[in-house]
Amino acid sequence: MTHDVPAKGQDAATQNARRRKAAGLRSYRRQSARDTSKAQRRVLQQLYPHYTVAVEVRSVEGARSPVRRLSWGHEQAGRPLHIEIGSGSGEVMLALAERHSGANILGIEVHKPSVAAIVQKLHARAAHLTNVRVLRMDAMTMVAFCIEPSSVDAVHVYFPDPFPEAHDRRLLRPYFIELLADALVLGGQLNVATDDAHYAASIRDLLSQFDSHFEEQMVHERPDWRPISKYEGKALREGRTEIFEFKYILRRDRKH
Ligand SMILES: C[S@@+](CC[C@H](N)C(=O)[O-])C[C@H]1O[C@@H](n2cnc3c(N)ncnc32)[C@H](O)[C@@H]1O
Repeated sequence: MTHDVPAKGQDAATQNARRRKAAGLRSYRRQSARDTSKAQRRVLQQLYPHYTVAVEVRSVEGARSPVRRLSWGHEQAGRPLHIEIGSGSGEVMLALAERHSGANILGIEVHKPSVAAIVQKLHARAAHLTNVRVLRMDAMTMVAFCIEPSSVDAVHVYFPDPFPEAHDRRLLRPYFIELLADALVLGGQLNVATDDAHYAASIRDLLSQFDSHFEEQMVHERPDWRPISKYEGKALREGRTEIFEFKYILRRDRKH
């Protein structure tokens, strides 16, 4: 299988077009208003604003479209940043916040009931955990438009939907890998786990085509800090007990 790996030295317009294309492909299931209960809607309206980060939209002279930036509170600004993409019910982002208490942890999730579940967990631990926030947004759009280059220390993607019948909807595809490489600091990490052997093979194949950006580090078993997430628990109960773990490091000598 071959992938369309962006050429080096492409001009800004081409890069912008790629970013728009990446943002236009949906890697999640459509939601209807009926998916969200009244209680979940209340959580989203009343509590979510207290547990998210602001996305500032600013016009910049000379730029065609407004620039969006994430804005953490003053006391949290300037810390290392970890993002978890597709946080589901939030078990892993909470564990990350405990483990990296000096870093900011941002979970990005589009599914409203999941975001409500995360917010409830954050609300229950508000006094204890101040370095973790959730953003209800498509991660492709978010990484393409709201993340400054070389500003993320680690990206975590645990159990992304494998879409066995529609591989082009998978989150981990060439455009997005390129965006993640731009977002990470040199030496930053991309951590991935999946229970789907086919998706695992395609992740390895895909990342091998970006080996001028990323170096693979072998991970033989699940890291002991990471709790079993809701999705992983379901996979284990259903007999999918082989979990494929990946860790890629953005090369310090990466050339843009
Ligand atoms: C299979 S679930 C896994 C959830 C969680 N990581 C776990 O292990 O339980 C994949 C999650 O990714 C979310 N997701 C998929 N595409 C996304 C995107 N582009 N931006 C944000 N979240 C996304 C889905 O809504 C879903 O909650």
